[in-house]
Amino acid sequence: MNFDLLIDFHVNAQQQGPGSPASTLRALDMIPIDKQAPLQLADIGCGSGASTILLAQHTNAHITAVDLFPAFLDKLNAQAQALGLEARITTLEASMDALPFEPSTLDIIWSEGAIYNMGFRKGLAYWSQFLKPGGYLAVSEISWLTEERPEAIETHWNEAYPEMGTVAEKHQAIAEAGYTLIGDFVLPPSDWLDNYYGPMEDRMAGFLDRHGHSADAQAIVAEEKKEIDLYTTYQDYLSYGFYVMQKPL
Ligand SMILES: C[S@@+](CC[C@H](N)C(=O)[O-])C[C@H]1O[C@@H](n2cnc3c(N)ncnc32)[C@H](O)[C@@H]1O
Repeated sequence: MNFDLLIDFHVNAQQQGPGSPASTLRALDMIPIDKQAPLQLADIGCGSGASTILLAQHTNAHITAVDLFPAFLDKLNAQAQALGLEARITTLEASMDALPFEPSTLDIIWSEGAIYNMGFRKGLAYWSQFLKPGGYLAVSEISWLTEERPEAIETHWNEAYPEMGTVAEKHQAIAEAGYTLIGDFVLPPSDWLDNYYGPMEDRMAGFLDRHGHSADAQAIVAEEKKEIDLYTTYQDYLSYGFYVMQKPL
């Protein structure tokens, strides 16, 4: 996989995974905390910061926005500057499984479409130490919506992400990691099609031209097209669940 090309394909997108401002704000609304307090929040796997910016605009939190790839963080910093939010957003190039936070210092950990990179159960367990007692974790995680699935989609996801599970299995993982589920909901198809895949399809021709239709660029586009086809065909069976949970006091 050519990571530089993959980042080039995604860096100018509004978001790097399924989601929407409405879904981010719906999850934020579920958290029963004073949003105007000077909260400490981390947005892990923030990409170019669609959720980071929104969270900064709808809270008074200081947000540490973490991603592995500096190109995304550069984009986020530029946007934060343009919106006058730079004093409340600090970007941090780090891996989500090796975070430099002090124990028990964060009021909220946010992570949209990213925890799968280390695995849902591992992420819940590892991030808990950084939350204050009674702190909140809001994550979106790909989840099965039905107990039974057609074999083609089942096989694809079992290979791509062995920890893929039903919403009920995610609830169980949350409980077993010691959190209390505050609420959850499923991202609507528009969060995938209108906000993520549609704009992605619009970027494909320009991306291929920019890279002279190289084999690597074509491979990236082919892979994304396959993902779009799979989602379009099997959208009744899977989505992201947005899970909002609390660490015990
Ligand atoms: C599907 S994107 C979601 C980005 C953003 N949260 C959004 O919803 O637009 C996943 C993000 O996780 C980041 N990522 C992947 N592995 C990571 C790691 N080990 N540590 C931190 N970030 C990582 C990627 O660079 C990417 O920005």
